[in-house]
Amino acid sequence: MRIIRFLFRYAPGVILLTSVISVVTGLSTIWLLKIFNDHLRGVVDGNEDIWRFIGLCTVAAVTSFIARVSIAKLALWSSFDLRLQLGRQWINTPLAELEREGNSKLLAAVTHDVDRLSESMRSLPSLLVDYTVTIAAFFYLGYLSWQLLLLLVLFMLALTLSRELMKSGLQKHLREAHMFAELMLATYNAMNAGIKELKMNMARWNGFYAGELYDVSSKHRDKNYSAELLFGVIHGYSEVAFFLFVGLMIYGAPAFGGITNATMISFMVAFLYVRGNMDRVIESASQFARAGIALDNLEQLGVFKHATSLSVAELHSRTSRDRLATAIANDLNLGERSHASGCNIELHGLRHTYEGIGGDHGFEFGPIDLSIRAGELLFVTGGNGSGKTTFAKLLCGLYAPLSGDVTLNGVRVQDANRTWYAQHFGTVFSDSYLFSKLYGAEDLPQTDQVIRGYLREFRLDDKVQVNDGRFSTVSLSQGQRKRLALITTYVEDRPIYLFDEWAADQDPEFREFFYQRILPELKAKGKTVIVISHDDRYYHVADRIIKLEGGHLAKKIMQIETEPG
Ligand SMILES: Nc1ncnc2c1ncn2[C@@H]1O[C@H](COP(=O)(O)OP(=O)(O)OP(=O)(O)O)[C@@H](O)[C@H]1O
Ligand SMILES: [Mg+2]
Repeated sequence: MRIIRFLFRYAPGVILLTSVISVVTGLSTIWLLKIFNDHLRGVVDGNEDIWRFIGLCTVAAVTSFIARVSIAKLALWSSFDLRLQLGRQWINTPLAELEREGNSKLLAAVTHDVDRLSESMRSLPSLLVDYTVTIAAFFYLGYLSWQLLLLLVLFMLALTLSRELMKSGLQKHLREAHMFAELMLATYNAMNAGIKELKMNMARWNGFYAGELYDVSSKHRDKNYSAELLFGVIHGYSEVAFFLFVGLMIYGAPAFGGITNATMISFMVAFLYVRGNMDRVIESASQFARAGIALDNLEQLGVFKHATSLSVAELHSRTSRDRLATAIANDLNLGERSHASGCNIELHGLRHTYEGIGGDHGFEFGPIDLSIRAGELLFVTGGNGSGKTTFAKLLCGLYAPLSGDVTLNGVRVQDANRTWYAQHFGTVFSDSYLFSKLYGAEDLPQTDQVIRGYLREFRLDDKVQVNDGRFSTVSLSQGQRKRLALITTYVEDRPIYLFDEWAADQDPEFREFFYQRILPELKAKGKTVIVISHDDRYYHVADRIIKLEGGHLAKKIMQIETEPG
């Protein structure tokens, strides 16, 4: 019933309206039953109640239509809203956590849990009809024969209790099935990411396909099957149990005495008429259980943090484009003005840890103390795995340090202002992703012009065109892709630039262009520039070079070479 409480809290108006309307549908259904039975029993003759009959049919049809449509609207709008809220979780989840745990939990929530919740919302009107019909039927059945009703109530209590006992194992299977659904998504993600490597090696593909993918998928199937088996047993038991009750009436009712055949027939007809509704009422518990698990998952992911009670109209306005943009800006604390230029960064005792998994000891970065002056061109060098990229992620605010401080022009960077701080950086990481559109800058009229100029300079103008901030293609070579990524950060015009081995994929000519033209140009504009590089040929361009070794600053900072080697 937690799910019902949640739905009432989430959208009280719609749920209340739907409930009232569904109760009306349910009562009309029972009234229709009474009309049928009255005719069967000969209480009413002829067609004196034909208008009542037509009226009730109309009311039942119209009310069930209204309930269904209004709840469907709520379900669709709230799924839309929930998916948008889940989208926000990607930005709000710390990068370190996403790297550690992957995003399959979020993906499973977007695809699976939202659907489940929406499904349970949609079934609410018919379920409310079932509840109303069942309750009203009890009154009607009691009016027909209180003895038989007593028998029915005892029977239903026994049925519900025994079914609940059988279901205790079900929850465990359902939770496990959900966990394997998440794992399966993660496995398909890995397949997508590693498709080249899999295509190039059939033995690897076989190992992956017949091993990992098969195992996870079969466990997902088996857990669901175990749940279905239990469902099946419970369902079969219920089917027989209802016949048992009919048998009980036929063979046991004479024991009560004074129950006429006509009453028996009326009771039997009424019971069979509402049997489906009663069964769904008892069955609704497991539906609530499934929806409850979906609700738990969504709650754990924090999607309801910003929603307490909503109407469809509120959902409409909440999900409007402008409101959403404002909400995100508030979320990310972008209220403070960024420093346009002259950014001094101080790092004190900066540390970060990657937890080891299995035999791996993990990696300890820092503590590191460092000052980076405004307008400085700083090179960061060091061997593979020495912590350069980790340093870059800590420096630009993608990671929150385990301990230590980062200050920007004297302002200490904390959780509350880390996103604000990150907006000072223009970055190209070695694995940076290239969006086909300049989101956030596409509306600026000068953007296309500026980009076209850079495309010419970076010799991409015959490959890529730009219109309204959208690139004609991003299907480029690795080196070209990096050049386009550089252009996109260049137009962002941030006060600090950070490049993680940008030149590694470039031909000698563009390497030269990067070190001799781009970097000095950025420096001349007063930008603070941090360049992670193995290109010792160009170390002379730097104002200062630092070297990382095993997560620490090397004692001996290299001398700047005066001549290119
Ligand atoms: N997401 C992560 N989770 C766990 N360990 C990580 C993660 N990223 C990096 N590491 C570990 O941290 C260490 C430093 O990695 P980092 O990427 O910072 O090195 P790097 O100096 O940039 O190396 P390269 O020159 O190869 O790019 C490595 O030992 C690596 O295994
Ligand atoms: Mg690296």
